[in-house]
Amino acid sequence: MNDIIIITGGAGFIGCAVSEKLIGQGYRIIAVDNLHPQIHPMQKRPDALHPDVELVVADVCDADFWDGFLVDNHPHTVVHLAAETGTSQSLTESNRHAMVNVVGTTQMLDAFTRHDAKPQAIVLSSSRAVYGEGMWRAQDGHAFYPDVRSHQQLSSAEWDFSYNGQKAVPLSHRAGNVMPNPSSIYGSTKLAQEHIIKSWCAAMQVSASILRFQNVYGPGQSPFNPYTGIINLFHRAAYAKLPIQVYEDGVIGRDFVYIDDVADSVVASILNPADSLRLLDVGSGNVTTILEAATLIAALHGAPEPVICGKFRDGDIRWAVADADPLDEELGVRAKVDFASDGAKLVGEWLLEKGYME
Ligand SMILES: NC(=O)c1ccc[n+]([C@@H]2O[C@H](COP(=O)([O-])OP(=O)(O)OC[C@H]3O[C@@H](n4cnc5c(N)ncnc54)[C@H](O)[C@@H]3O)[C@@H](O)[C@H]2O)c1
Repeated sequence: MNDIIIITGGAGFIGCAVSEKLIGQGYRIIAVDNLHPQIHPMQKRPDALHPDVELVVADVCDADFWDGFLVDNHPHTVVHLAAETGTSQSLTESNRHAMVNVVGTTQMLDAFTRHDAKPQAIVLSSSRAVYGEGMWRAQDGHAFYPDVRSHQQLSSAEWDFSYNGQKAVPLSHRAGNVMPNPSSIYGSTKLAQEHIIKSWCAAMQVSASILRFQNVYGPGQSPFNPYTGIINLFHRAAYAKLPIQVYEDGVIGRDFVYIDDVADSVVASILNPADSLRLLDVGSGNVTTILEAATLIAALHGAPEPVICGKFRDGDIRWAVADADPLDEELGVRAKVDFASDGAKLVGEWLLEKGYME
């Protein structure tokens, strides 16, 4: 019988892209997904999920589900993607985020133990959110970890960080060099997930690959979820010929990494399991400001120039970009799709083709 790969959250954006790439490689692929209504309002199997993938509709927090399921299905590899993913939403729905991201993970691991069904490897989708504001460097070379930006600070339009009155610049995220310091509840739950997977896998002698994704975008991302997918939102506003509202002063920096490149990093982690633990950042290595992204997308649709509205979201971080070298060195994966020249346009074409611009 073929080895089983379980992909929790496998009906989601990244899950569908990962399983698509695994088809034909000799695995039996099972997606365990509760078809969360915020992502799947029709509550049906997404068209993007390859027909050869078995979909089991279930909640990862449900111990009874795991008990029934694991009787016949012992996984070779688990790709753990199921999560609540809203950074701003996690501030007001923190329990929901903690339940799925933390307790959902522990429920799954306990069930593997109960059924003597520990996999050989686990791949966890973590997030750049674990870094919070990350590490910055002042003009005199002093490196420091900024605190969470307070509501008061943001209300006074103090967007950036300084050190002893000196201007400072953010450093690229590189696991091991930059320590996690989450500034959102979502980020805290993702960091807890990392620690849980790390401890469990070390004790159980299970290979663990923890991948910290930057801002993943591309065709297939739910256009229905108002809390994630900024590129989709920008396209829809621009298509309606509305000026895109850009938050803060527009100089929020993000590393937009294309879905295919992210799926490649997950597949490479599955096919080349870590000896024990690997912790890698997954990004393009290039930064795009929110204003640059909005200006580019507005131009694609002939929409008016974006408007810098000065609004902000508590918990949002100022700047995030990955050091792309370690992923390449360890797994030979480097992002291929450039946001400005190709990626942004591909999303617009997909939204139009699927009728999601209305
Ligand atoms: N998309 C990004 O930019 C990004 C960035 C960093 C990290 N990540 C991480 O990648 C993973 C996948 O993200 P995505 O972009 O594919 O999100 P998504 O929302 O498209 O997919 C998540 C899937 O998980 C399912 N799900 C949610 N709660 C569940 C539960 N309790 N039980 C079973 N299934 C459940 C949803 O129905 C959905 O299909 C998440 O762990 C997320 O934290 C994503």
